[in-house]
Amino acid sequence: MTRSGSPLRRRGTGACDPWVAGALLEWFRREARELPWRRTLDPYAIWVSEIMLQQTQVKTVIPYWERWMAALPRLRDLAAARPGKVLKLWEGLGYYSRARNLQAAAREVVTRHGGEFPRSFEEVLALPGIGRYTAGAICSIAFNQPVPILDGNVIRVLARVGALRGDPRERGVNEELWSRAASLVEAAAALPPSHVPGLAGNCSALNQSLMELGALVCTPRGPVCDRCPVSARCTARELGAAEVYPEIPVRAKGIAKRVMTLVLERGGRVLVERQPAGGVNAGLWQFPSREMVAGSTPSEFLQSCHPVDPSPELRPLVTVRHSITRYRIELRAFHARVASALSGSGVPKGECREWITPRQAAGRAFSSAHARVLKAWIGKGGG
Ligand code: ADE
Repeated sequence: MTRSGSPLRRRGTGACDPWVAGALLEWFRREARELPWRRTLDPYAIWVSEIMLQQTQVKTVIPYWERWMAALPRLRDLAAARPGKVLKLWEGLGYYSRARNLQAAAREVVTRHGGEFPRSFEEVLALPGIGRYTAGAICSIAFNQPVPILDGNVIRVLARVGALRGDPRERGVNEELWSRAASLVEAAAALPPSHVPGLAGNCSALNQSLMELGALVCTPRGPVCDRCPVSARCTARELGAAEVYPEIPVRAKGIAKRVMTLVLERGGRVLVERQPAGGVNAGLWQFPSREMVAGSTPSEFLQSCHPVDPSPELRPLVTVRHSITRYRIELRAFHARVASALSGSGVPKGECREWITPRQAAGRAFSSAHARVLKAWIGKGGG
């Protein structure tokens, strides 16, 4: 029984799997989008695309993937690259640990596997930043292995086809979804080859067809059931309740946080800091920032950051709203033109703080919110 008290429905899988798998393969052969990573069987290129596609839309990923593959065409290039270069190629995609893990894993493939991407699911899964979904995607898409994948799109399709009750993040429901995804890819492996150009075979096509259907037809709102190849076997559609599935509980709103940021300009340069290893946005550049708590003011922050007398005038530059994990952040950036500090050269202490020109800034990776602040400063004639 699920938490909601109803038994898991099994319709739409089991005996229907070969039919559903066949219909999905046939639909995908006709409707698959031409995506650049579908023209290769190189596991490295497919892996990079899969990591980029996590939490990011296809149309955003395409130019990033193309730039990345041009700059680092082989796994060994990634392993040998400067971490700053890797972060710069990722700049704007967010969740930067994905880029750091890609490089850590590439280095592990070089040291442990002689630079050859492993083919066994367990060895792929053991690499940093690679979970069950990514290992399944790489092994099925690059090597045509009958291993399942389950992401948000696949969950939606399978939950609807089987009218599966319960929160898909709950362990029992999640395992049921994995097992349905496995039945389908195994059914596809047993069918005659469907010959989708460029793809490794039926397992690759079946897994990608589920993601594609979820992205293009079986959408969260307003699914286009008339264009769905498996609508005849979809229990949620039969119940007239496609949008009810999957039963994801409504999330609480994020926690509001206000941050102040200083764009301190001196002789055409701005003060920036590199974020320390191990923390949020590690290795990325940002303007000095501090959470706004009761009693803290931008001018007091300015004094602690760059003690000069009299204090220069602070002007609001831009407000950037963004979300990171469960935080909804409002970042207020202020600009001040400063002369020199009271002590020393005016360069605050610490190896990872620097006064840089807009040109130098363009060569460094900034977190997304701070890249918007930088753009605002340059747009207002900064530097
Ligand atoms: N999302 C993640 N990987 C994908 C793929 N290979 N095809 C379609 N959507 C995807």
